[in-house]
Amino acid sequence: MFSEEINKAEALRWAMVGGGRGSQIGYAHRSGASRDGHFKLVAGAFDIDADRCRDFGINLGLDADRCYADYQVMFETEAKREDGIQAVSIATPNGTHYAISKAALLAGLHVVCEKPVTFTVAEAQELKEIASQHSRIFGVMYGYTGFQMIHQAKEMIQRGDLGEIRVINMQFAHGFHATEVEKNDPGAKWRMNPEVSGPTYVLGDVGTHAFYLAQLMAGLTVDSLCCTRQSFVKSRAPLEDNAHVMMRFTNGAVGTLWASGVNAGSMHQQKIRVIGEKASIEWWDERPNQLSYEIQGEPARVLERGMGYLHNDDLAVSSNRIGGGHPEGFFESWANLYSRFGIVMKAMNAGDLETVNNTWYPDIDAGIEGVQLLERCVESADDNAKWVDFA
Ligand SMILES: NC(=O)c1ccc[n+]([C@@H]2O[C@H](COP(=O)([O-])OP(=O)(O)OC[C@H]3O[C@@H](n4cnc5c(N)ncnc54)[C@H](O)[C@@H]3O)[C@@H](O)[C@H]2O)c1
Repeated sequence: MFSEEINKAEALRWAMVGGGRGSQIGYAHRSGASRDGHFKLVAGAFDIDADRCRDFGINLGLDADRCYADYQVMFETEAKREDGIQAVSIATPNGTHYAISKAALLAGLHVVCEKPVTFTVAEAQELKEIASQHSRIFGVMYGYTGFQMIHQAKEMIQRGDLGEIRVINMQFAHGFHATEVEKNDPGAKWRMNPEVSGPTYVLGDVGTHAFYLAQLMAGLTVDSLCCTRQSFVKSRAPLEDNAHVMMRFTNGAVGTLWASGVNAGSMHQQKIRVIGEKASIEWWDERPNQLSYEIQGEPARVLERGMGYLHNDDLAVSSNRIGGGHPEGFFESWANLYSRFGIVMKAMNAGDLETVNNTWYPDIDAGIEGVQLLERCVESADDNAKWVDFA
């Protein structure tokens, strides 16, 4: 069971860039970070609009002089304070992640950045090098990976419960953008603009989540892939609102990834199905407390979070905040991740590299692999769905 006995006096002084009033994901960051006392919000450059940022920050309880019009000013000003910020989360549109992350690391801050971390693999690798040179933690907000049943799945695959892995089906295919909603929705509009969103839309926006979940669960290495992508709402071209990817893994397994915003009628439909020679497991983010486990020739079963028959893996059990039967959800998953970020950031500050190296969290390598997926998908799709090497 999760332990809430941490010393709240040791909360890291934390700020946000982006995630302002009305943003889609700002509250999830603040809720996750504040839940367990590892982080205390003390400053922010929350908004592209300086007045709205100030008003919003004050309403959140911040001092007016710590609500900044600009992230550069925030990093410079906070660095001069004895009680200045130690960590920052970046929840701005994709095109700004690289510059803000780089500036934060160079200012000596630990970083949690939204996905996709950058537009190019070269940029993401540069961030990794800077983080390493400055001994800073770089976490990536793959927010679904704090769900306990993902870690149960990982443990089952590692123990061989499924046998050799043969097929992985990944999908995140929602229907919210089945029509041209971006005409009236600024939060959707930037996602369709290559200058802000990057070289992809749904592949980066949702495909990276499903891909990383599968990579975390099964731990396979992608050998090559082929991708086809379409803009069913024509005005979105050249960015896709639907994409299919086929993958070959180095162990001989194969996989598919379906990323879509035009799956009319669907909510999320984020599902990962891992098929081995003996059995299959399937996880669905709309029912995150359950994991389907189907052994060939036996009745299908559903494993439930919080039950004694689960493998006693670190995250599958120790992050339970309440017993089985009571549904935990999205915000608990984020809190689990922010707990991990807090633990490794504090350990890094204390020079405790053993804890840093032995604590799992979605790190910059996870971010790099996500951007690599996007680069390879674009390369393939724009060359008539040619098979391309992943590495
Ligand atoms: N991890 C997840 O599950 C998840 C879910 C949704 C969005 N995201 C990611 O989070 C990021 C933000 O997405 P969103 O949907 O919240 O966007 P949004 O458009 O709803 O909100 C963006 C916020 O950033 C602010 N902003 C923009 N540029 C800024 C700048 N230069 N400085 C300070 N603030 C700035 C805006 O004013 C706004 O408050 C994206 O990278 C997106 O991919 C991740």
